[in-house]
Parts: sequence; C-alpha cells; structure tokens
Amino acid sequence: MDKSIRDMVAYKEFNLLSDLKSLGKFDIVFCRNVLIYFDRETKGAVLEQIAQLLPNDGVLFLGGAETVLGITEAFKPIPNLRGVYRMGDADDSLANALSAVAKARSEPKSKLETDI
Ligand SMILES: C[S@@+](CC[C@H](N)C(=O)[O-])C[C@H]1O[C@@H](n2cnc3c(N)ncnc32)[C@H](O)[C@@H]1O
Repeated sequence: MDKSIRDMVAYKEFNLLSDLKSLGKFDIVFCRNVLIYFDRETKGAVLEQIAQLLPNDGVLFLGGAETVLGITEAFKPIPNLRGVYRMGDADDSLANALSAVAKARSEPKSKLETDI
C-alpha cells in the first residue's frame, strides 16, 4: 500500500472490554473473529459500544461465523453480504445499495464478460 495511505493509519493495542469512546468515531468497523471469545452478554455490550462509534450509515464487519442476531438490536444484517451489518435504526438505502452490488457480483457473468 502506498506510504501516503499507510501514514493515515494509527495502530494501537486496545482492550475491547474497556470504554471504547476514546477511540473516536469510525465510518466502518472491522471486528472479525474477536467476539468469539466473549459470552453473549459481553458480546452485546461490546457491539452496543461499537454502535456508539459509528454514524447512522456506518457499517460493521464481523467474521463469517459471527452474528449480531439474538444478541443486539443495534445492528441489522445486510442481505447478500455475509458478516456485514448496518446500524439497526438506519434507513435502508446504503444497505440496499451494498446488498445489490454484492448480489450482482455473485451472479454468473454473461458469456461475453467471461470471454473477455
Ligand atoms: C482469532 S483472532 C482474529 C484476528 C483477526 N481479526 C482476523 O480475523 O484474522 C482474535 C483476536 O482477538 C483479539 N482479542 C481477544 N480478546 C480481545 C479483547 N478483549 N480486546 C481486543 N482484542 C481482543 C486477540 O488478541 C486476537 O488477535
């Protein structure tokens, strides 16, 4: 990755079980394969904290085997995008757009596209 982009990244260790507010705000959170270590109640508490860091059109990526279902109402699954969630009280426009792109990409290519 280009250095100008790398320089925009801040790396730091952080315990998800602490208060997340000091991390600031995010448009997208990738929290993949970490919730697996926590019990249901703790998963809910962490997810609700993450929701506080995101805007209404924010997106959360979890691991493919993880879910928010039955744990919190703070996030809702985006159809056709496994492991990707939108804010629970957001309007559906971004989620619908992402879902449509994912669906289109998963459909078989036409013969012409395949040949090219
Ligand atoms: C299975 S690894 C997943 C790593 C990476 N996200 C991925 O999907 O490849 C789980 C990670 O969760 C981190 N982890 C476990 N408990 C944590 C906590 N309380 N706060 C922050 N990270 C934690 C571990 O240090 C480990 O790096």
